[in-house]
Amino acid sequence: MPLLITGHSRGLGAALTRRALARGEIVYGVSRSALGTGQSALHELACDLSKLAAIAPALSRFVPADVALDEVWLNAGVLGRIANLRELAQEEINTVMDINVWANKAVIDWLAARAHAPKRVVLISSGAGVVGNHGWGAYALSKAALNMLAQLYAHELPATQLLALAPGLIDTDMQSALREVDIMRFPALKRLHAAHGSADMPDADTVAARIEAAMPRLSALASGSFIDLRKL
Ligand SMILES: NC(=O)c1ccc[n+]([C@@H]2O[C@H](COP(=O)([O-])OP(=O)(O)OC[C@H]3O[C@@H](n4cnc5c(N)ncnc54)[C@H](OP(=O)(O)O)[C@@H]3O)[C@@H](O)[C@H]2O)c1
Repeated sequence: MPLLITGHSRGLGAALTRRALARGEIVYGVSRSALGTGQSALHELACDLSKLAAIAPALSRFVPADVALDEVWLNAGVLGRIANLRELAQEEINTVMDINVWANKAVIDWLAARAHAPKRVVLISSGAGVVGNHGWGAYALSKAALNMLAQLYAHELPATQLLALAPGLIDTDMQSALREVDIMRFPALKRLHAAHGSADMPDADTVAARIEAAMPRLSALASGSFIDLRKL
């Protein structure tokens, strides 16, 4: 079963890729850098997903037309700057929205034009897109928009199950960046700083295993759903 995974080079995407390869699946990974497992079942495309117009042509060159992608994991994401929204320049917001939202639209539109519809497209979301904590600015806006992207495409792509999945806290580079932010200024981060090194912030391999174990329950959900893995 060939899979496409964006942001496969690090963090959750790398863990999802390793698990898929261990199950014997073929993975088409898209990131700026390589994971480089040396396995022939892993095909890697170096692609900057902020360059929206280049995404579809690059994917068409990368994935042969006769390869039927079974599942697609739209996982690549950036945090942007934690700050008051009024302090963020429009360009900073645009970059986060381009990578976290519009790149995913470009991939879904490319998929929709292919002969074979994937069984499932999972968009990796975040609780930040629902709770609206102080300082989460462009990231929170992008994940809220991502959730709606899943809901809207569910009407248009009846052969594909679209899910927006919040994975919960994961000990990755993204959380390391959050630990650099002053909790006095943004108190909602206190919980994240405290969770580091505890069971409340598992590593990416643990979260990928939880997602894999949850697949039977996830596949039963209505297309367009937003789900928090911790509440499944
Ligand atoms: N970590 C958490 O606690 C947490 C919680 C909730 C949701 N999430 C979500 O989970 C997903 C994965 O997060 P993570 O923590 O694993 O992040 P991460 O460790 O920072 O990894 C991000 C991945 O996205 C790729 N990426 C970033 N910018 C890109 C670009 N311009 N073009 C192509 N690829 C790009 C990176 O690859 P390159 O740098 O090689 O391009 C990398 O593979 C994200 O959508 C994030 O919002 C994370």
